[in-house]
Amino acid sequence: MLNPIHIGDIKIDSPVFLAPMSGISDLPFRDLVQSFGAGLVFSEMIASREMINHSAETLRMSTPHNRDYPLAVQLAGHDPEVMAEAAKMNEDRGASIIDINFGCPVKKIVKKYAGSALMQDEDLATDIMEAVVKAVNIPVTMKTRLGWDAENLNAPSLCKRAEDVGIKMITIHGRTREQMYNGHADWTAIRKVRDAISLPLIANGDIETIDDVKAALQQSGADGVMIGRGTQGRPWFIKQVMGYFQSGEVLPKPDNQLDIILNHYDAMIDHYGEGKGVPIARKHLAWYVTGMHGANEFRAEMNRVKDPSTVKSMLCDFFEGQILAA
Ligand SMILES: Cc1cc2nc3c(=O)[nH]c(=O)nc-3n(C[C@H](O)[C@H](O)[C@H](O)COP(=O)(O)O)c2cc1C
Repeated sequence: MLNPIHIGDIKIDSPVFLAPMSGISDLPFRDLVQSFGAGLVFSEMIASREMINHSAETLRMSTPHNRDYPLAVQLAGHDPEVMAEAAKMNEDRGASIIDINFGCPVKKIVKKYAGSALMQDEDLATDIMEAVVKAVNIPVTMKTRLGWDAENLNAPSLCKRAEDVGIKMITIHGRTREQMYNGHADWTAIRKVRDAISLPLIANGDIETIDDVKAALQQSGADGVMIGRGTQGRPWFIKQVMGYFQSGEVLPKPDNQLDIILNHYDAMIDHYGEGKGVPIARKHLAWYVTGMHGANEFRAEMNRVKDPSTVKSMLCDFFEGQILAA
């Protein structure tokens, strides 16, 4: 059910992707999810104007890519020239693919007439895509939603225009902007995009189990899936999906979860430094312990601790406690 796809000249054997997620799909998380075999990982959304203005925070988010796996850097903005310049900068910094964000529903972004707001202006969205495609030699992809609202489901026409100006792959989150994250993603509605384009198409939204992957592919007719929240606290889910498609079997969760978490923690502290890294890591640790015995108490206590070594020994004690409680 999963065949290799080509994004321009980049061949992806198993199109199971890590979604771009601001505040989450940073370098340490991308490295981790990629180690479980993700076909492609996406950066956090990068504001194009901040990028060309060399904002320190934005440059950190778009750290030069020096890994041996492909990276899609996602850009947001509304000015074709600025988007083109930011795309070129990211190409020079090692990005393998530039992804354009036409899906972000967050008010702050929409107010700047970027993200999903551009679904309402197909001409400008097309100018942006054209400018970015012309500016770089690497493939350019696009991620969007079904439309602005239920009365304006224009993803098929926007995606057709994307194909015409040289976009190489499209991801659709099966919701409208108006839905934000409410309700359930409509994978069947993605099929209208399938019928409109012949580019590789990726289905996204609410994919959290292997049955979801199968249903999303079957209902949408997409070539692959992109998973966001389903990887939070369980980056190994991607490996389980891959394993299922390779062998037909559902792999168990890894039995070295504690080592995986400790390594992820170290990578976050390394990447951000202690002052920033400790608070940033908290949400990941909170996800990792979800559903475990004593998780609430652990989270409350861990959120007060500032010293990384103490956090790590708390984690070790917590996991040892799970074995004893079992
Ligand atoms: C915390 C968070 C941050 C996100 N940031 C981005 C982003 O930067 N760019 C983007 O295109 N989508 C972003 N998204 C949307 C996801 O990429 C994805 O489309 C959405 O979460 C639905 O997929 P899921 O149900 O697998 O999470 C974000 C989602 C979440 C939950």
